[in-house]
Amino acid sequence: MSSDTPLAILGGLTAEAFLRDYWQKKPLLIRGAFADFESPLAPEELAGLACEDGIEARLVEAHGPDKPWQVSHGPFDDATFARLPDREWTLLVQAVDHYVPEVAALLEAFDFLPRWRLDDVMVSYAPPQGSVGPHVDSYDVFLLQGSGQRRWQLGGEQPDDAPIVSGVDLRMLERFEVTPDEDWVLEPGDMLYLPPRIAHHGISQSADCMTYSIGFRAPSTDEVITSFADYLGEMQSETSRYTDPDLRPIEHAGRVDDDAIVRLRTLMLSVIDDPAQMTQWFGRVMTQPKYADQLAPLETPTDSDAITEGLAKGHYLERSLGSRFAFHEENGRATLFTDGDGHACPPGLARLLADTTPLHAATLASHLDDQALTLLATLVSHGSLHWQDETQEDDDE
Ligand code: SIN
Ligand code: CO
Repeated sequence: MSSDTPLAILGGLTAEAFLRDYWQKKPLLIRGAFADFESPLAPEELAGLACEDGIEARLVEAHGPDKPWQVSHGPFDDATFARLPDREWTLLVQAVDHYVPEVAALLEAFDFLPRWRLDDVMVSYAPPQGSVGPHVDSYDVFLLQGSGQRRWQLGGEQPDDAPIVSGVDLRMLERFEVTPDEDWVLEPGDMLYLPPRIAHHGISQSADCMTYSIGFRAPSTDEVITSFADYLGEMQSETSRYTDPDLRPIEHAGRVDDDAIVRLRTLMLSVIDDPAQMTQWFGRVMTQPKYADQLAPLETPTDSDAITEGLAKGHYLERSLGSRFAFHEENGRATLFTDGDGHACPPGLARLLADTTPLHAATLASHLDDQALTLLATLVSHGSLHWQDETQEDDDE
């Protein structure tokens, strides 16, 4: 995709113009971002997911059985849904793209952004007047209206210490003042982009309001420092340590002098300031699955011969939902990162594997040497890739 192609999903803006003028800067309302959009999920299907073990789901009730703005966590059961009133509650299900292929497919439209920045697609359902209250999020989000109508009101950028309503398990803003002209009703296919820290309040206007939040992530400074330090720490030899053969006579034995700090700084920077290691660490960390349990390694690992045979039979490989792939390329060599691992890989194959196309024999043909077959076998054994055969294909249709 070229950065100067106008994109329907951005209301005809090019990726370049969107990134320059809006990304991480200001909200953008996009009417008809997805033409003739039909929600891939019905409210009952979302409720079904919220009843499953291991799926992160929340229910927000404006007038809960125990208190106002009560938040409860799934898994829920039929009895929960049976007791709910016909207005003023919201069901939120996290990472629906990890469970529903049609929801995962929506993400391809966001390929003008680096995929490692993506977190997940949260889907909400709310009857009339359902809302989670005015709040800010720490991350960029695209709020796509899936079905029904939702009124979105924006309240400008908030400082980190904006007062939050106490005694409620939602980070609801104490003060929310709607910015003039930033008050819209979104119809199916309409989408609102919000950068971090913009106050927003979405209120369902219909009995079938479903909103898809395509959420991004950005690691905190705290996370990157501790995680990189851990990664580097494990690679240091025990004999490598602080040295001071240049020590000069001292004035006071109790002083930590500046020379010691300079030596420490030199020691630390010599380890930290290493872009190659940083790449290896970052690719691994950013492809760790959101839910480690979702990755299902094979009980009996597969091998290269099985890959050759499977492809010859016309079966093909697919990335598992919830698995994360990325690659880094430099000087004609690449590392493929999958679900927290790093693999040396020819650049052409790395690009193909870290894309979204299904991996048929014909697609893989020009890459299939011994190294590629071994890598594919490893990825299938780890659960990052899995076979699709004709039977499953029929089931999907
Ligand atoms: C919702 O879908 O109800 C809330 C989404 C959000 O405000 O982040
Ligand atoms: Co929000």
